[in-house]
Amino acid sequence: MGKDKLRKFKENETFTCLVQPATSEVLGHDHPLKGHWNSDFFHNDKPVVVELGCGKGEYTIDLALRNPDFNYIGVDIKGARLWKGAKFAEENRLPNVGFLRTRIEFIESMFAPGEVSEIWITFADPQIGREKKRLTSPLFMARYRNFLKKGGIVHLKTDSGYLHAYSKAMAKQNGLEILADAVDIYGADRERLYASQIMSVCGKDAVDALFQVQTFYEQQYLAQGIPITYLAFIADHEGPYVSPDWEPDRWER
Ligand SMILES: C[S@@+](CC[C@H](N)C(=O)[O-])C[C@H]1O[C@@H](n2cnc3c(N)ncnc32)[C@H](O)[C@@H]1O
Repeated sequence: MGKDKLRKFKENETFTCLVQPATSEVLGHDHPLKGHWNSDFFHNDKPVVVELGCGKGEYTIDLALRNPDFNYIGVDIKGARLWKGAKFAEENRLPNVGFLRTRIEFIESMFAPGEVSEIWITFADPQIGREKKRLTSPLFMARYRNFLKKGGIVHLKTDSGYLHAYSKAMAKQNGLEILADAVDIYGADRERLYASQIMSVCGKDAVDALFQVQTFYEQQYLAQGIPITYLAFIADHEGPYVSPDWEPDRWER
């Protein structure tokens, strides 16, 4: 392991905003913070929003700075990436930011029923041909349902037409209420987003933030001229989530 990575890992251990459970604490066990993020971590009762696969944490931090009445937790498995966001949150003493280093597969060990209001999935790997690893698959949706509030929203921002189309088909197949569906947010769909359901549910500031808050990966895709898509839906669903009837052959990204 490189010296820089080692230095970041060491510094990570000093950050109070960064929770790094051992695998033994989350594999088949409930972590002590499960059900207690408000009381024991944030020390407030503001709604909790989670970003899955947050990388360096730009989105988590930017949303937290804009929305002081919400708590934000960025989740990723890569410690050297999380270091960047955690360092910023630590140095700036951001009271509504936390980072969690764990595999998303263990997320149910970290959050209790109704503990989370919204989930952001930003520029996740589309996992082409590997549905079970896809963050909007029925398997992951069932995990999220176990800790999302009733009416909890899943936001998906991606450069992947494949992931966007799959997730939309999954939402439709399971009768989930779609609040926004845009295949080119900075292009033709921009104005439509201001007329979509997400505007009435989350407000204009939230729609503005879609364009103004950009992740590390998003900036790179934009520089290459790749369209950025956005899908938002309510996760509520009775019974098992099922895979969509969907024809993926024509999708490459
Ligand atoms: C393509 S990057 C996007 C990072 C960030 N959202 C952005 O847009 O800049 C995907 C991130 O998801 C994380 N990730 C992928 N699968 C994961 C999993 N199963 N558990 C935790 N993190 C995961 C990776 O470590 C990586 O940082």
